[in-house]
Amino acid sequence: MRVGVLTGGGDCPGLNAVIRAVVRRGVQTYGVGFVGFRDGWRGVLDDQTMVLGVDQVQGILPLGGTILGSSRTNPFAVDGGVERVTATLRAEGVDALVAIGGEDTLGVATRLAEDGVAVVGVPKTIDNDLSATDFTFGFDTAVEIATEAIDRLHTTAQSHHRALVVEVMGRHAGWIALHAGMASGAALTLIPEQPFDLDRVIQVVDDRVSGGRAPIIVVAEGAEPAGGEMVLKDASTDSFGHVRLSGVGEWLAAEIERQTGVEARSTVLGHVQRGGTPTAFDRWLATRFGLHAIDAVHDGDFGVMVALRGTQIVRVPLAEATGALKTVTPELYAEVLGQ
Ligand code: F6P
Repeated sequence: MRVGVLTGGGDCPGLNAVIRAVVRRGVQTYGVGFVGFRDGWRGVLDDQTMVLGVDQVQGILPLGGTILGSSRTNPFAVDGGVERVTATLRAEGVDALVAIGGEDTLGVATRLAEDGVAVVGVPKTIDNDLSATDFTFGFDTAVEIATEAIDRLHTTAQSHHRALVVEVMGRHAGWIALHAGMASGAALTLIPEQPFDLDRVIQVVDDRVSGGRAPIIVVAEGAEPAGGEMVLKDASTDSFGHVRLSGVGEWLAAEIERQTGVEARSTVLGHVQRGGTPTAFDRWLATRFGLHAIDAVHDGDFGVMVALRGTQIVRVPLAEATGALKTVTPELYAEVLGQ
């Protein structure tokens, strides 16, 4: 049996741990041969491959990024894209695919599975917004990085009696903001799921400053003021139709300074949250996902995604994972507001 492996979408700490687990178990337990597709679905579209075996995955467990490369290529947005995908799989003698990705990459996998392609999905994203799994790998690392950064910003904000706005990733889901905001004791945490009241932000800053505190506001990049609009980097979109965000932190800091007279600064954590070595939790989760994904391939159980439910790894229909985003519930958000 020959299995293709690809990593698509924004990269994420733990991708290499999945690739390593898939390949090692595939070769050593099942005698599977592998081919690596470069840069996500682009490699399958253009038949761009790399050798993938036990030698290639040696030492990559703690390595950030992905040895296969990644892109946000959408074969369904390309003329004749699906035909090119199936032609490549035929030409490469690929019997099954392991697709490691988020909503977009696995959305493509879902549609290809419906067309009869033998595919198993593995959920990745620092955003933790994929349905049907309690956690995606990469999220824990991103929260850890954001929390450490916010802790550091606390001390400099306090020294200068400033308000500090920290913008974290999260286009449609505020999971990183929610977890890092609570872990670092932020004065306010603003998420995309719940438009924020600017007057309340101003009030909280005023109260904190009057009490001799330097408030930290954690804001997800997709958060928007009630009655306002999402702040965009520019008007461009990727092949899945996503706009580029970033700017809400800078905007909010300027508003705080203008309305309160308190000196305010903003920090955009950006891709720092995605780079570097995965935490032990993410290595553990990614490795388990990899082992279970190749088990599913071996069992001929296709059109599924491996998922974490409690402490168990289970298989769920791909469509269940990609149907709707997993967003922060009002109940969970109430917890961080009430801390
Ligand atoms: O992969 C998810 C993510 O990191 C989002 O949190 C963020 O909005 C987006 O990717 C950034 O994408 P890019 O790396 O293409 O700028």
